[in-house]
Amino acid sequence: MLSYRHAFHAGNHADVLKHATLSLVLESFKQKDKPFIYLDTHAGAGIYDLDSDWARKTRESNSGIQRLWHEPTKWPELSAYFQILQHLNTEQAGQQFYPGSPEVARQLLRPQDQLLLMELHPQEIEVLRGNLAKDNRVHIHHRDGLEGLTALTPPTPRRGLALIDPAYERQEEYQQVVQAVKKAYTRWPTGCYLIWYPMLAKARDRSLRLLHDLKEKSSFSSLLVAELSVETQHPDLGMHGSGLAMINPPWQLAQQLQTLLPRLRQTLQLDSKAQWRVEWLIEAT
Ligand SMILES: C[S@@+](CC[C@H](N)C(=O)[O-])C[C@H]1O[C@@H](n2cnc3c(N)ncnc32)[C@H](O)[C@@H]1O
Repeated sequence: MLSYRHAFHAGNHADVLKHATLSLVLESFKQKDKPFIYLDTHAGAGIYDLDSDWARKTRESNSGIQRLWHEPTKWPELSAYFQILQHLNTEQAGQQFYPGSPEVARQLLRPQDQLLLMELHPQEIEVLRGNLAKDNRVHIHHRDGLEGLTALTPPTPRRGLALIDPAYERQEEYQQVVQAVKKAYTRWPTGCYLIWYPMLAKARDRSLRLLHDLKEKSSFSSLLVAELSVETQHPDLGMHGSGLAMINPPWQLAQQLQTLLPRLRQTLQLDSKAQWRVEWLIEAT
């Protein structure tokens, strides 16, 4: 059963980490003229209205993007991300619309690049189509994203990246992600993979296990982890942080994140237990 709707969480601290990192990776890909493809296995709606009833119910963006939005000049390294926010919120809109990962990619990709978006939720996919389908670089599939990841790789062109961003509503999803990524990697070893995961309360957290399983018996040529936690990890409630496990990241990304994450922690922290890390679990040789 699919009950997760990202509109309740759009623009929260985890989205800031994910989308800021995604914008850095996409900008790196653009340093070469050669076309590339962006795959998004769990695309969501593409664009979110922060004034909607769902977003107002949780107001998660208040402790996320709203903490950065009023000071774009403080974040020159995230100019691409801020430009997307600005384009979505021209003139009267103020700070109303927030880009999901498909819109971050759509705005940053060039005419020669392509987007392949997968989404399983029957309503969410219609919203996604309404938001992005008119762009002829965009291909939208109503299907299981992990099945699609293995079925559609290696993609054409081979140069590209995949964002794997499940809701982790079911515990089995962690294992399914590991299996799908390992299978996709054997077919597409040159692809760059960004795997998002939540850092949850002690009783529910599976992040260390996920990283262990990704690394174990893998043939990945590199595996970089970036995590941002904004508050104390509680015993049984809440998401105190999130992370991205990245296979084949662009070479300068680790350094960029080492500068960015302490600054994000400073801005997004909710208490003194906020922390960050950027670490190679498998170092590129
Ligand atoms: C965390 S949200 C995605 C957010 C989006 N990537 C972003 O950053 O804006 C997860 C999405 O995955 C969708 N979903 C859940 N199970 C799926 C599956 N098996 N295959 C594809 N999409 C799925 C949900 O409907 C939801 O829209």
